[in-house]
Amino acid sequence: MGQGMGNLRRTEYCGEVNNSKIGSEAVVMGWVQRSRDLGPIVFADIRDITGIVQVVFEDEDKGLFEKAKSLRGEFVVAVKGNIRARQSVNDQLPNGDVEILALELIILDEAQTPPIYVKDYDNVAEGMRLKHRYLDLRKPFMQKNLLTRAKLAQLTRQFFSENRFIEVETPMLTKPTPEGARDYLVPSRVNPGEFYALPQSPQLMKQLLMVSGMDRYFQITKCFRDEDLRANRQPEFTQIDLEMSFVDIDDVLDINEKYLAYIFKHMMNVDIKLPINRMSYSEAMDRFGVDKPDLRFAMELVNITEVVENCGFKVFTDNVEDGKSVRAIVVKGGAEKYSRKGIDKLEKFVKDYGAKGLAWIKIEDEIQSPIAKFLGDSINSIINKTEAEKGDLVLIVADKDDVVYASLGNLRNHIAKEQELYSPDDLAMLWVVDFPLFEYDEEEERYVAKHHPFTSPVIGDLDMLESEPSKVRAKAYDIVINGDEMGGGSIRINNGELQNRMFKALGLSEEEAQLKFGFLLEAFKYGVPPHGGLAYGFDRLVMLFTGMDNIRDVIAFPKTQSATCLLTEAPTKVDEKQLEEVHVKLNESI
Ligand code: AMO
Ligand code: AMP
Repeated sequence: MGQGMGNLRRTEYCGEVNNSKIGSEAVVMGWVQRSRDLGPIVFADIRDITGIVQVVFEDEDKGLFEKAKSLRGEFVVAVKGNIRARQSVNDQLPNGDVEILALELIILDEAQTPPIYVKDYDNVAEGMRLKHRYLDLRKPFMQKNLLTRAKLAQLTRQFFSENRFIEVETPMLTKPTPEGARDYLVPSRVNPGEFYALPQSPQLMKQLLMVSGMDRYFQITKCFRDEDLRANRQPEFTQIDLEMSFVDIDDVLDINEKYLAYIFKHMMNVDIKLPINRMSYSEAMDRFGVDKPDLRFAMELVNITEVVENCGFKVFTDNVEDGKSVRAIVVKGGAEKYSRKGIDKLEKFVKDYGAKGLAWIKIEDEIQSPIAKFLGDSINSIINKTEAEKGDLVLIVADKDDVVYASLGNLRNHIAKEQELYSPDDLAMLWVVDFPLFEYDEEEERYVAKHHPFTSPVIGDLDMLESEPSKVRAKAYDIVINGDEMGGGSIRINNGELQNRMFKALGLSEEEAQLKFGFLLEAFKYGVPPHGGLAYGFDRLVMLFTGMDNIRDVIAFPKTQSATCLLTEAPTKVDEKQLEEVHVKLNESI
């Protein structure tokens, strides 16, 4: 049975009992990591947020000793005793040279055998971890992740507050915000038939704060996006969101470089080199196939369209004739590393990105390629152009640009990971700038904003807004670290007239624009400072600083890939009465 703490008050954390404290008395409280009953002596390892300390019970005090024998894993205890040196030192523990000789033991609560072990490298299925998250969060690495997260939040508040940013909260029950995902909707009880949307970001509110004269705003806030989830996405995630008045691109990038330098220094003791390099979107696509290039390794894309223009391989020549492109990457030493089976797997990989095939050339003592017989002499031109050498593997995709880019860009990342072309300590960051303002949505057959509809065009490109929208560049920027988009933002339009032109270019009628963003357009009539900002994926930054590659490992209570919470079993059905209250009727078929 559990009991109160009696007259015991904690004096030490377990992990902080060390050899400088030998000879003193201590009271520790925590969970039993494990206990060993060796007959005349019982050992128990006690764990709290700081670590573990060994406690020894000797059989001089019968009552105490019997109680110690009843200890099981995850019992919650308070122990009072004397700190002394250990006879046999345990090298596995930082304080493995000391122990506490127990004088008093209170069992604060008993525990059943837990469904998962509380140890770092337990190979249990993630579903079990999420279902019993409170146990999973007892694991030292998970506690460390949450501590790292808290530290980053603190540093962030410190930095932005010191730089005149004002922390302002923005509403969770709001109107749809235009970040391109589906909204989470909340029905209104008092306004029948009407819905709030949870914010996809505080974008419009932070712009209104600039109209309000708040000058510089920041917030660490939840965002909600109902979208397909991948390894580093959650339906409910956290942004470090900021906005500044009277600024242009350089001002925003400058303060953010200082922020990044500050957190890298304080989180990892790493000095990053400023200024951070900038690369245009088109250069990133051309050289790396993606708009968030991983610069920790080379293996750049090579355009071989001209080289194969007149070759004998119909797949290539047909593509060139249709105005499409043929590009290659060279895997150094790949000829030996990739068997035919291995290459088949790579081909399967690129097919997920829409490629119709993956042509290859292995350069060994002889040149090997399934298309050698069609290529004839062109094979040497390809090898020359790609600068492939003996031992290398050349991989080629022919298709329209976006398919070639997506296939080879992602294949490049995939191979680098598979071949360990970088080490965990490598760090490569850059700004990607000069994004196109629009992107053509083939399904909807119209242009959509690549960033969001409030992003300012590059002023010199304004002439093309109506005539050649695809050529207009945006004053937008992304910060990319180790191939991940850590954050993005832009300078905004601060003029109602230009904003209306933008809506028009996006095919949004005046009525639609009024309906969706009327409040912003109204605000824009009353004096808007030039402004711009950025938002970081806070969870992604924590992943970087903890070395985790699963976003769920840096969030206390995350959702699964299918947006459920296994712990609380949300979402759940609700009863008729509740539905009626919010004026919602379910589809009969559900
Ligand atoms: P954006 O949509 O690019 O910009 O989001 C900013 C950053 O948030 C992170 N992020 C996510 N992290 C986890 N799970 C998700 N589902 C998810 N979606 C986005 C990314 C991304 O870079 N309002 C603009 C910012 C601005 O213009 O100031 C915005 O939200 O790291
Ligand atoms: P096929 O003639 O279709 O059997 O293709 C011969 C080789 O060319 C195979 O290795 C295919 O993977 C490859 N291939 C087919 N289509 C493409 C393409 N669009 N781009 C690159 N390689 C391709």
